[in-house]
Amino acid sequence: MTTSTISAGQSVDVAQANLLFAEYVNRAQPELIISDIKINQTAVALNSISAMANLAIDNEITPVFLKIHIENGQVSSGNDEYKNSRILADSGWPIVLPLYESDNQEYPLLVYRAFQKNERVLFDQIQDSYEGDTASLNQILPKVDEFHNAAGKAQVSSLVVTDSVEASRKAQLQIFFGRRLDVGSRADQWFTSERSFKLPGLDNPIEWNELKRKNWVVNGEKYGVTLGDVLEIARAELLFKNQTGRKSYLVSAHGDDHPGNIVSSFEDNSARVFDPAAAGLAPGSMANAKALAHTGLLPMSGMYYDPKIQAQYQLKGNDISVEYGFAATPVFKEHEALARQIIDSRFIPVFKSMKAAGADIQSEFATLKSALAMCALLTVDTAKLLEQPQTHKGIMLLPATLMFSQLSGLPSLDYLKQELAKI
Ligand SMILES: Nc1ncnc2c1ncn2[C@@H]1O[C@H](COP(=O)(O)OP(=O)(O)O)[C@@H](O)[C@H]1O
Ligand SMILES: [Mg+2]
Repeated sequence: MTTSTISAGQSVDVAQANLLFAEYVNRAQPELIISDIKINQTAVALNSISAMANLAIDNEITPVFLKIHIENGQVSSGNDEYKNSRILADSGWPIVLPLYESDNQEYPLLVYRAFQKNERVLFDQIQDSYEGDTASLNQILPKVDEFHNAAGKAQVSSLVVTDSVEASRKAQLQIFFGRRLDVGSRADQWFTSERSFKLPGLDNPIEWNELKRKNWVVNGEKYGVTLGDVLEIARAELLFKNQTGRKSYLVSAHGDDHPGNIVSSFEDNSARVFDPAAAGLAPGSMANAKALAHTGLLPMSGMYYDPKIQAQYQLKGNDISVEYGFAATPVFKEHEALARQIIDSRFIPVFKSMKAAGADIQSEFATLKSALAMCALLTVDTAKLLEQPQTHKGIMLLPATLMFSQLSGLPSLDYLKQELAKI
């Protein structure tokens, strides 16, 4: 018997899972004629259960993608994914809209047209590039550029200023960062005093308690801040603590537009975003952090793919140094190009419009740096990744945290720092 581990963690028979899914769909939207439901088994989707199926519309069969959101082991409304897609589409974001949505509270369900053969998710194309085939990624780069351009314009035109910081605190994206930083959250679970990190080149694993106090030298460049400092600063910044008098500068944000949520079509020359579960108005300083972090530095640092480059760490007194050839990673040129697109089309226009609307731009920059740094530190469990033998996964995520916090150490980050300084 083949078994499948679905997101809730139980093992069930695949055929049985398909039947259960079909029954769920029937209860969610009995009027839809859906057949051939096959549940997707993917390690990537942690917050949803999905299936491929066929939908009959006017005697035509349309392949569809069915999606149910899961939150704390329960079905959830997906934070109004349907409503969010509409909001983003109306403000000008190129986005994949659902065909149907169940308004049944007990059985929420989203129905999308299935991606076709000529449509590829950007994450998968970057993955192919790590295996040596960068041609198709390079082919879609101009489409992705157009997408970021449209997204940036939509963001600028949606700018809303409110008189208190309360609106920033309540933004869905802030809540998302907050959940990772609050007491007892990921930050506390992954970075306990005795958690040890196996860094190549060091004789012994190093405990967080010691590591968090070290001074860093990355590729010969000194970072005058420790990992412990960066984490503490981020807690204050991203939870918007002690910020009385600060206003909110909000723009439309997808909230989770990493390459795994961008699809490009080779047919109609477009790239669009999907999965807008965390979308809505968000502080302009945080709105584009995930897009940049997960497209540039983090993949090169081994967050998802094996960058195939070894790093050498060294301890000397209270200093920890590391040498790593970012430029020799397999997709360096493309990652840098993708990062530049996001900087030019989204970061710079959004920060310019915030400044023009009266924002204290230095404090907005500080929020941005913390948001980027926390993408490096709190997306995946670095200590665990570093335990994996024979890969270079997670190899530069700790230094990436510092690089983001100082906007330094990569051409794209130096460029971002320089362009922000001109605003
Ligand atoms: N319309 C679709 N057709 C086919 N596959 C899809 C479609 N939408 C999403 N997927 C696949 O399913 C995965 C998870 O879907 P997504 O909407 O991003 O949910 P999650 O909230 O779990 O990230 C995506 O990474 C993509 O590979
Ligand atoms: Mg997704």
